[in-house]
Amino acid sequence: MCALEVTPEITPVLATERLILRGPVVGDAQAMSRLAGDINVAGQTCALPHPFTEDDAERAVARAMRLDWNEEAKFAIEHRNFGLVGMLGFRPAALGRIELGCWIGRPYWNRGYATEAVRAGLTWVKRDWRKKLVVAGHFADNPASGQVLCKAGFLYTGDVERRLSKARGEAVSTRMMVWLA
Ligand SMILES: CC(C)(COP(=O)(O)OP(=O)(O)OC[C@H]1O[C@@H](n2cnc3c(N)ncnc32)[C@H](O)[C@@H]1OP(=O)(O)O)[C@@H](O)C(=O)NCCC(=O)NCCS
Repeated sequence: MCALEVTPEITPVLATERLILRGPVVGDAQAMSRLAGDINVAGQTCALPHPFTEDDAERAVARAMRLDWNEEAKFAIEHRNFGLVGMLGFRPAALGRIELGCWIGRPYWNRGYATEAVRAGLTWVKRDWRKKLVVAGHFADNPASGQVLCKAGFLYTGDVERRLSKARGEAVSTRMMVWLA
């Protein structure tokens, strides 16, 4: 059996009232490219390019399926009725820290899904991954992201970094935040 078939069976599955967070699978690529292909989504992240084609999404899924979940975690956020609505990840950052990243497709904004997913992810980080500290950053022109992170328990550190947004092709002022388990 190849690794791609095995990985999803050993990745964690988190259930919330409306959402299921699980390892990404090949079938997610089409919805990922449609939702993350929106410049309003990609342009508020560092990592997503624009355009974000289905081939790009397939490569991102293949990479996610090869992850060592001791080092890095990537969850597809699936709504119980609507299917894939976004993604949530925890990746290694400077100084041995873990950094949170998240996006929700624009048709699903302002329904509380990001807050619900981030809270579930942090519960998993604390209880199962046993990490004590998570950092996150949001572009200064993206107050909705700051609001989500505040609601999930992050605090502003006061640091502002210039971070490259691949989709915008420029560095953007990024307000840094921290969460302690
Ligand atoms: C930021 C993002 C993840 C929020 O997802 P979401 O599911 O809409 O978030 P929620 O519904 O849980 O919460 C959004 C909060 O932002 C608030 N908000 C929305 N637009 C806002 C604005 N312009 N200014 C201030 N607050 C705003 C909402 O009122 C809500 O807060 P409330 O519940 O206290 O009223 C989503 O917009 C997104 O994916 N954006 C593009 C990518 C991105 O920004 N990722 C995060 C940075 S890595």
